[in-house]
Amino acid sequence: MKKLLSNVNAYIGLQKALGADRLRYAALEAAGIQPGETVLDIGCGPAYYLDRLPSDITYHGFDTSQPYLEWAGRRFPSASFHHGIFDADAAAGLPEFDVVLMLGLLHHVDDAHAQELMRLCAEKLNPGGRLVTVDTCYSPGQGRISKWISDNDRGEFVRDADGFMALARGSFDKVDGRHLDSMRVPAAMWLMTSTV
Ligand SMILES: C[S@@+](CC[C@H](N)C(=O)[O-])C[C@H]1O[C@@H](n2cnc3c(N)ncnc32)[C@H](O)[C@@H]1O
Repeated sequence: MKKLLSNVNAYIGLQKALGADRLRYAALEAAGIQPGETVLDIGCGPAYYLDRLPSDITYHGFDTSQPYLEWAGRRFPSASFHHGIFDADAAAGLPEFDVVLMLGLLHHVDDAHAQELMRLCAEKLNPGGRLVTVDTCYSPGQGRISKWISDNDRGEFVRDADGFMALARGSFDKVDGRHLDSMRVPAAMWLMTSTV
């Protein structure tokens, strides 16, 4: 599966077949990105959802997968894509942002890395800026199939809502979230908005 998903078209096709693209669109709606705003997308993958955003934003995407970034760069030539993890050195070379997106990233990183990302995001956000994340989660009362999906996600750090909220609360004053069940398969997802 890992090998298959490194093929960009297979990754995007599977996202759409499962309805995982709907989670991305819900996250973008929650972010409320306006024309002229600056957006940082950490773990952007192929960023296939970028055509849903206003065309005159300033966008920076980071990912560790070169094939995903090459695809994204061809599809969205006016955006800036960076190969590598987003860390303090990378942050230092960038402007401040109105919105940070981490769509499907947090459940791939351990607590220490996630807390460092939260700290950097809070530092890089303008006043009134927001961080929006969406991730596979554990949810009380989730059915057997949904629990199986959470247990078998490619991400090794699937948490419950409190676990995700605790990561954000270390760096953000206001953290809100809600469960999403808009996929075509019964899967538990956590959409979270954090503001400085
Ligand atoms: C589930 S994919 C999500 C991609 C995209 N945001 C989306 O919603 O389709 C997670 C992405 O995070 C990238 N990734 C994993 N760890 C990372 C890290 N530490 N820094 C940057 N990207 C990372 C992976 O290469 C992968 O493309």
